[in-house]
Amino acid sequence: MWDKLRAHHAKVAERRFDSMLDTARAADFMAQTSDMRFDYAKTNIDETGRKLLIELLDVTGVAAKRDAMFSGAAINETEGRAVLHTALRNLDGDPVIVDGQDVMPEVLETLARMEGFANDVRSGAYQGQGGKITDVINIGIGGSDLGPAMAALALAPYHDGPRCHFVSNVDPADIAQVLRACDPTTTLVIVASKTFTTIETMTNARTAQAWMGEAVKDTGAQFAALSTAEDKTAAFGIDPSRVFGFADWVGGRYSMWGPIGLSLMMAVGPEAFRAFLRGGQAMDRHFQAADWQDNMPVMLALVGIWHNQIRGYATRAVLPYDNNLSRLPAYLQQLEMESNGKGVSMDGTTLPHESGPVVWGEPGTNGQHAFYQLIHQGTRVVPCEFLVAARGHEDDLHHQHQLLVANCLAQSEALMRGRDLDEARAKIADKCTGAELERQARHRVFTGNRPSTTLAYPKLTPEVLGQIIALYEHRVFVEGVVLGINSYDQWGVELGKELATALQPVVEGQEAPDGKDGSTAALVQFLQSHGVS
Ligand code: F6P
Repeated sequence: MWDKLRAHHAKVAERRFDSMLDTARAADFMAQTSDMRFDYAKTNIDETGRKLLIELLDVTGVAAKRDAMFSGAAINETEGRAVLHTALRNLDGDPVIVDGQDVMPEVLETLARMEGFANDVRSGAYQGQGGKITDVINIGIGGSDLGPAMAALALAPYHDGPRCHFVSNVDPADIAQVLRACDPTTTLVIVASKTFTTIETMTNARTAQAWMGEAVKDTGAQFAALSTAEDKTAAFGIDPSRVFGFADWVGGRYSMWGPIGLSLMMAVGPEAFRAFLRGGQAMDRHFQAADWQDNMPVMLALVGIWHNQIRGYATRAVLPYDNNLSRLPAYLQQLEMESNGKGVSMDGTTLPHESGPVVWGEPGTNGQHAFYQLIHQGTRVVPCEFLVAARGHEDDLHHQHQLLVANCLAQSEALMRGRDLDEARAKIADKCTGAELERQARHRVFTGNRPSTTLAYPKLTPEVLGQIIALYEHRVFVEGVVLGINSYDQWGVELGKELATALQPVVEGQEAPDGKDGSTAALVQFLQSHGVS
């Protein structure tokens, strides 16, 4: 099947796809749910290409794998675990069986406990030593930070609870800045760590504990924990009533739907959090029920495979024309690259094609004034994924929102159409002539024929955000299955962690850098001569 796709690609690779774009294509090369429209008409995928891409789904057993995931089978084969973040948004509580047991009663009970605690914090029924909680600090990293931090920003218009801060980096600059802004007597610290062993998180948690200890008598009373490791949260001194557990079948980067979302729930309230879950659940149902061609996550995944594995574009840019989605690219970097950045197939053999692409991006219109130059005229093609809402939350400034939307649509149009030499000449014909005109005109040529997709939605509500995040999760799943990758482990982060632990005593000057390579030893020496130890 890959060969057939590559053969088809070879035939159409040089074609200009803007010549194919009429209203019939626009109505066909898109997928729609009740809230969202995903347009992939501005790509070089044609009817045959789409048919061949869809055949990949059948060859690689995507439907069976999808059903296995939703039903609780251990599809994370290298860790022997089920993959059930979907159970966290299964609000109707239909049974989900893992090892012979329905996990839903516990999921819903934990959700209810989170809601009880969030309501108590928000109403003032739960207080710090100095009174009502004004600030919540979420200490976590990776999946225990990026999801809630991204969503808290995305849903800023819905905030009506305490201020939320997110500390992730072990760099003391991160926590120091947040602690400076908070009063320890009215602050709740949430330690978010699936394993409760992550060195950055535990180091920051101890720093926060010491900070609070200087002003608060019962420090433990102003701490909560989100973790699968309840023995470790108890050893840290956090009362079980403020520990919110989850099972190991929730991967870190898929965990914001459960306890890891507690800080978000504190900020926007349980009702808005439930709306976020409902959005995720709606996308789950769409993913399970829609035909492949109408299935949004499936088509988003297949467009990704066409661009990365077939056309060979190594990166993709995520460009939200929605400032509140500023952290979406960072969130997707973990979701997509930690999931599908693997060099071996599920069976341990070398991957026969490229792994997932490099994902990057910034919100529009800021990116336009930074890196879009390369996107339009650079020698590398970067497929762009635009996101745009029909309305913002600032009704009195809607004219600015209209300008934002116009910019978004203009960028995808410009990438597709480009500007040829004749048009470039005509643009400056009144300014110069002859050889100078030729030279100047060439700088103003845009090759065009550069692909992009656009995800359009009415407004970034909690429910729509839930749909968007679940859409990308399922996209990662489909790409992983088609590529033969286990999207749910992350062995690639281990080596660096081990070496950092071994290097700490060397950096501190307690051990010599014996056995270290020359470059590392020289850098240690330089940093030590400037005071690191
Ligand atoms: O960096 C690897 C990783 O395990 C991520 O997958 C995870 O999201 C992050 O570390 C944080 O882990 P934990 O929640 O256990 O502290």
